[in-house]
Amino acid sequence: MIIKVAQSAGFCFGVQRAVEGVLVWAKANKGKSIKVYGMLIHNSYVIDKLKELGVEVVEDIEQIGKEDIIFIRSHGVSMDEYAEIEKRAEKVYDFTCPYVKKIHEIVNEHSENGYDIIVVGDMNHPEVKGIVGHVSNNRKCFVVDSIEKIKEAINQVEGQAVVVCQTTFDSKKWSEIREFLETHTNYKVFDTICKATINRQKEASELAKHVDIMLVVGDKKSSNTNKLYQLLKEIKPTFFIEKVEDLDSIKLDSHIKSIGVTAGASTSPEQIEEVVKHLEEKFNEMTLKDFERLIDRS
Ligand code: F3S
Repeated sequence: MIIKVAQSAGFCFGVQRAVEGVLVWAKANKGKSIKVYGMLIHNSYVIDKLKELGVEVVEDIEQIGKEDIIFIRSHGVSMDEYAEIEKRAEKVYDFTCPYVKKIHEIVNEHSENGYDIIVVGDMNHPEVKGIVGHVSNNRKCFVVDSIEKIKEAINQVEGQAVVVCQTTFDSKKWSEIREFLETHTNYKVFDTICKATINRQKEASELAKHVDIMLVVGDKKSSNTNKLYQLLKEIKPTFFIEKVEDLDSIKLDSHIKSIGVTAGASTSPEQIEEVVKHLEEKFNEMTLKDFERLIDRS
């Protein structure tokens, strides 16, 4: 049996930066009131670990007080929220991912200069809400997730527009939208989809072609982990693993000789290791002699 772990499985750069930042700060400042504004990541495993260190997650700005040290997650926040948090808290540490910050700058600068804004993404996603909150100068802003919706938006745009994309949007859909927009020469299109997402999807799809089954490790609330799962399901039998116990429900036929493992951007390295370790034990119990564990995450 061969188990292969995708090189890009787990935390992306932006999430790792935010989680490590909060962890280091929380360990060094026990007793202080440390709060993360919004769910730091969609991963109960990591959130529980932070809670053990006394870190609280607040969803409501009203819950922020003078004594609080506030961390802003990688998704970012709107300009108004940032100003309000700064006014209320003792100190703010901004862990907005630099790639998301770049979108904030594009949107803000162009709306200041008279462009309308089109955001391709999910209007309920916190990153998109934050991006929309950087439009200024009363310019129009549309959030769309399909060519049909972008056509509707185009009918309402006044003059020039700028198009940006949610960092974790479906890369295939984004390519189709970009192709469609090529005929709209008065639109500036910024390719702001995160390469970490594309690489993870590409690498996992490639891995899926070379193994018998795939495991996707992560929290079911995580949208990028779900997208990964949906994508791989089309290629190979794929199982969503939230916790190691989920492995017990997978029935492995004798023809299965290899397992591929990947994980969403919000899955910690510990969770992936735990799953691989459990697989190792499971196969040892089954006395499969040709077990080989290949982890290449250098
Ligand atoms: Fe940043 Fe890309 Fe992760 S935008 S938070 S590195 S998915």
